[in-house]
Amino acid sequence: QKYNVAVLGATGLVGRQIIETLEDRKFPVDQLFLLASSRSAGEDIKFRGETIEVQDVEGFDFSQAHIGLFSAGGSVSEKYAPIAADAGCVVIDNTSHFRNDFEIPLVVPEVNVASLADFRNRNIIANPNCSTIQMMVALKPIYDAYGIDRINVSTYQAVSGAGKKAVDELAKQTANLMNARPVDSEIFPKQMAFNVIPQIDVFEDNGYTREEMKMVNETHKILGDTTIAVNPTCVRVPVFFGHSEAINIETRMPYDFEHVKQLLNDAPGLELIEDEGDYPTPVTDASGNDTVYVGRLRQDISHPHGLNMWVVSDNTRKGAATNSVQIAEELIANYL
Ligand code: A2P
Repeated sequence: QKYNVAVLGATGLVGRQIIETLEDRKFPVDQLFLLASSRSAGEDIKFRGETIEVQDVEGFDFSQAHIGLFSAGGSVSEKYAPIAADAGCVVIDNTSHFRNDFEIPLVVPEVNVASLADFRNRNIIANPNCSTIQMMVALKPIYDAYGIDRINVSTYQAVSGAGKKAVDELAKQTANLMNARPVDSEIFPKQMAFNVIPQIDVFEDNGYTREEMKMVNETHKILGDTTIAVNPTCVRVPVFFGHSEAINIETRMPYDFEHVKQLLNDAPGLELIEDEGDYPTPVTDASGNDTVYVGRLRQDISHPHGLNMWVVSDNTRKGAATNSVQIAEELIANYL
């Protein structure tokens, strides 16, 4: 059986990655509808060697599509996801708009695939935040075996998480600075090139940023456990593709270090780098593939239940496009 698929935000960074991923993973696409705003309607995009014209989402009849993969921003999903869902198109939404809605499942296939069944509540499934996805893939095996009391995490996030304009801004600032020209910042709150910025998304009343609170709330929802204390600091770094995270956890029960290595070696979607002196980086390992890499795994010398790890993954792939397409694969295998 084949499915009609609509990609909303088809001209964006994640949208283009979704189109590539559908092709690479041989998703059984019958018709592919590529949707964006009127700005890029009429543009051509290639899929399986064919040229498909981008359409304006305004006025698109979603009853033509079985599945909709949305990544055009929160306000666009707010408007069009219910319209598509009512027309019978199951929406897999990459934005944060529906993630905290208790009726809507928030799914990382390696972690909580059973919750996907709840898609029937609203015909909408939420794809988690990129930083949360890679952290969940890495922590789930340890959580299942020993429980987790507390997560302290600092992120080193690539600019592609903020979309195409953000990638362009880093490239332009870098080129300008190399030529001793002044730089402008429009997308980022401060100069991004050759700098690090400890702010992603807006500040909340508690002094954390919204990106940081996404990691807290989404971890609770995905693991179905609000007792885990999560303390994130999210930082943007001048890397184009691939998020990195320095994670320190305290397990609930004492853990066996060799067993933890075994668990991570056996875990789906994950590769543990154990070679002495080696570790994964976003550019040399993660960028351009779907794996979540774990390295620098070591026992915490400051806490008997503490464990440290370095987790790297391509934020536009496993952090967004691949996870969405995996959800679609589960959907057609088990429900549609
Ligand atoms: P468009 O090319 O028409 O602007 P990115 O995250 O890389 O910035 O991409 C954002 C994606 O969301 C693009 O495909 C963009 O399409 C799409 N988009 C943005 N605003 C809207 C809108 N109001 N309606 C439909 N698509 C939109």
